[in-house]
Amino acid sequence: MSLTSAIATNTCSVPSAAQLGRVVAPLYHARTAITGHRAALITAPAPAPAPAEACAPSNPGQSPRPRYHSTINLARPAGTFPIRLNNIFAQKAPSAPGRYFSTTSVSRLRDFFPSHETKYIRQTPPAWPHHGYSEDEMHKVAPAHREPKSFGDWAAWKLIRFCRWGMDKATGLKPDQQSDKSKPTTAVVASKPLTEAQWLVRFVFLESIAGVPGMVAGMLRHLRSLRRMKRDNGWIETLLEESFNERMHLLTFMKMCEPGWFMKTMIIGAQGVFFNALFFSYLISPKICHRFVGYLEEEAVHTYTRCIGEIEQGLLPKWSDPNFEIPELAVQYWHMPEGKRTMRDLIYYIRADEAVHRGVNHTLGNLNYKEDPNPFVSDYKTEATGHKPNAVTKGTGYEREEVIG
Ligand SMILES: [Fe+2]
Ligand SMILES: [Fe+2]
Repeated sequence: MSLTSAIATNTCSVPSAAQLGRVVAPLYHARTAITGHRAALITAPAPAPAPAEACAPSNPGQSPRPRYHSTINLARPAGTFPIRLNNIFAQKAPSAPGRYFSTTSVSRLRDFFPSHETKYIRQTPPAWPHHGYSEDEMHKVAPAHREPKSFGDWAAWKLIRFCRWGMDKATGLKPDQQSDKSKPTTAVVASKPLTEAQWLVRFVFLESIAGVPGMVAGMLRHLRSLRRMKRDNGWIETLLEESFNERMHLLTFMKMCEPGWFMKTMIIGAQGVFFNALFFSYLISPKICHRFVGYLEEEAVHTYTRCIGEIEQGLLPKWSDPNFEIPELAVQYWHMPEGKRTMRDLIYYIRADEAVHRGVNHTLGNLNYKEDPNPFVSDYKTEATGHKPNAVTKGTGYEREEVIG
């Protein structure tokens, strides 16, 4: 009997089972994490309706919905994060309203942030609606690398190399899962694929970090503008939008997995260190910080490109399964059209976002941060001659002469 079923049996109430499950789950993962066994993949049809559902049906009179789910209980091999992944494959009942993932209490356990119903508010739209991409733009994105040209560039690049090394170690990447190390952000072929669990661990950790720089830089530029009583020229909005966009990436992946206590601790620790380090670094050299983020985004584009390749080669069968549904949150945020809502499609959108961050930050790293306007939100006198930049396809960023003149 699963942990959640056991809870449900004893509480006989879906909400209380879910609530209790949230409290107990980290302890459960902690127990499995210390066994040191390798990942155990359990894929099986869901059993008959859980006792909790029988006691308190959410839709009285409605027949049980056919469903199955696969749960990956990932005990921690040496040097990796424990993470529980609930990849829910749900088959919709014809009469079911809207989209859902599962009616089992397992999926309730998984939903960290259900929408909060209030008496008057219908919905809260995102502060920065996504601008969207054309298919062509998304498919043109490619891994790229900007060669360091100054000592600051070199330092930022070496720091990112160190972070990538730590990430590979922490997620338990084997030598045969590594791509060509001499081309770390452009080589996307390895002799062995990552598992879905390994990918999600990398995505969650990467996104929890990637959402920090835009907020720090935007905040500091905001304070600088107040303090010096000067215009900012459009940088703040782009930086805050970047951090918002990264957070949407994180929330999307959080709908697919539940990190264990060890990973949560690592994320909190990493955020504490990263935020403060970046805060002081940005005060000293915004240029180097934007270059650092540009290199971080090179890594992100590389990561998602490799993942897309593995999905398209059929190496990640769970995500290629036609019954796999991506979160509704993602469908709404990226305005994903019907028929284009697979995990592969989702990763294409996210990779395009990362490509924008890469191009924007490499470009901002080339500008005079005190005076230059943000070219990505500016109207150009010479738009017809092609000076207006498009970051998504400019992997190494624009030089100052190209966009400021
Ligand atoms: Fe991201
Ligand atoms: Fe990013």
